[in-house]
Amino acid sequence: MHLIYSVEEMQRHAEQQRCAGYKLALVPTMGALHEGHLSLIESAKQHASHITVSIFVNPTQFGPGEDFDRYPRPLENDLQLLNKYGGVDVVFVPPTEAFYSTGTHEHQMWVHAPSLEQHLCGPHRPGHFRGVTTVVTKLFHSCQPHLGVFGLKDAQQFLILQRLVHDLNFGIELVGVPTAREPDGLARSSRNRYLSVEERAQAIVLSKAVEAARRQILEGEQHPQPIVDTMLQILAEAPDANVQYAELVDTKRIQPITQIQAGQEVLAAVAVFFGKTRLIDNAFVQIPAV
Ligand code: PAJ
Repeated sequence: MHLIYSVEEMQRHAEQQRCAGYKLALVPTMGALHEGHLSLIESAKQHASHITVSIFVNPTQFGPGEDFDRYPRPLENDLQLLNKYGGVDVVFVPPTEAFYSTGTHEHQMWVHAPSLEQHLCGPHRPGHFRGVTTVVTKLFHSCQPHLGVFGLKDAQQFLILQRLVHDLNFGIELVGVPTAREPDGLARSSRNRYLSVEERAQAIVLSKAVEAARRQILEGEQHPQPIVDTMLQILAEAPDANVQYAELVDTKRIQPITQIQAGQEVLAAVAVFFGKTRLIDNAFVQIPAV
């Protein structure tokens, strides 16, 4: 496993591997790796012959009151984990200055899709997706992969990145990997470590809520309100949960659904605070065509 810190070296390495005929996959992460990240690597192995994992805690996707400073950065553990797991060819760990040489406030060029940020996490995290699409553009330009592998746990992120590569002709295929979960259903997340024992026990309401929405949709409910009500009722079972949103949107435009239709794909999604810790979960539901 090869460690690369500079963009130029990363580009040279990717160029060589491409010329040698390898199919390159990139798995972008912010580190603090867990089984969810490993499931992305597993999926990358099935689609590509050379795997790069990037570790970069991207300052521009954190809002002013968010956890950028206290975001975990256990780099040594991450590298050991990747070494032990095997199959990763390169770990790309750029320093902040490599991507933001003039400082984040002076950065002028952004990739941005405001119409896809009007719902779900978008309005609650102003600037977040602009930071994500911009840094993923930088990571793609640095690592030059044929394939980018992302988790469906961050559903809105995945849908926006799909539009990024499509609308800006990146020529990169995206693979979406289903959410890796704890045995009781809680989606694995680097932020789960912030939860107290009581909060951790209550956090199962997120997966219960989106699974109940999935069932209700597949049983034929066509109106969004009863489905949203179901999610809210289940989230209310957790006394310490502070609900930020429970929404049902279409997966193309990320807009609320007025009536569910045959053949449509919908996304049921929730965001909940336990204290300062914000958790999200979702279910993609494909409605059968008649
Ligand atoms: P991070 O939160 O580290 O997540 C890296 C990747 O792992 C993302 O694609 C995310 O969706 C995926 N992931 C996280 N938890 C998962 C789980 N339980 N199951 C499956 N996949 C999971 O998402 C980011 O970093 C950043 O926004 C990034 C894309 C790296 C840009 O900075």
